[in-house]
Amino acid sequence: MSRKRVAVLISGRGSNMAALIDAAKDKNYPAEIVLVASNRPDAGGLAAARDAGIAAEAVDHTQFNKDRPAFERALQAVLEAHRIDLICLAGFMRLLSPGFVEQWQNRMLNIHPALLPAFKGLDTHKRALDAGAKVHGATVHFVVPEMDAGPVIMQGAVKVRDDDNEQSLAARVLAVEHRIYPEALRLVAEGRVRIVDGRCLIDGVPAPDASQIEPADPV
Ligand code: GRF
Repeated sequence: MSRKRVAVLISGRGSNMAALIDAAKDKNYPAEIVLVASNRPDAGGLAAARDAGIAAEAVDHTQFNKDRPAFERALQAVLEAHRIDLICLAGFMRLLSPGFVEQWQNRMLNIHPALLPAFKGLDTHKRALDAGAKVHGATVHFVVPEMDAGPVIMQGAVKVRDDDNEQSLAARVLAVEHRIYPEALRLVAEGRVRIVDGRCLIDGVPAPDASQIEPADPV
């Protein structure tokens, strides 16, 4: 089976992009990263992508005078020029219109730094700490028109420590992001993810048996 052609859309440093590029270096990985695109020409990840020999293009939203459809047409043209099968949003900080999202329905993934549906939006680590959450984490999901919603493909959790601050918690969650995004993309690219009633059912993954309760029961 041919490898899926993936575009990663970024707005910033692109550490998740780098994790995806790294995973896709393996010829047996079912997807290849053929394009990195950013709405910000100064995004650090663009240079890193070029260094990795990947086409990197800026579609600068400020050049479109707040004309979102025109921005999205330009983005779509770049995606089509590279014959993209799947999109991975990785710190892409522009809202996409319902029309664009529907065009890419079930073919566009996002990573969010929280265990959705908890803590949609920004400042997730601070909000998890303020809420006294005992577990926190990250979610890879299909993109739907509603922000930070859509069928969950994979999640990874970390324990929240009593001495955590925003930075320490963010760092542990980011390490989880770098593990789960390539794995989630693998599942999608291999065609092992079925969406049934808004839930992702994954073929070939054993059912979990260990409970994950924190704090653990006293022994
Ligand atoms: C990540 O925390 C991701 O979950 C969120 O934006 C951040 C992007 O970081 N959507 P990076 O650019 O991948 O390093």
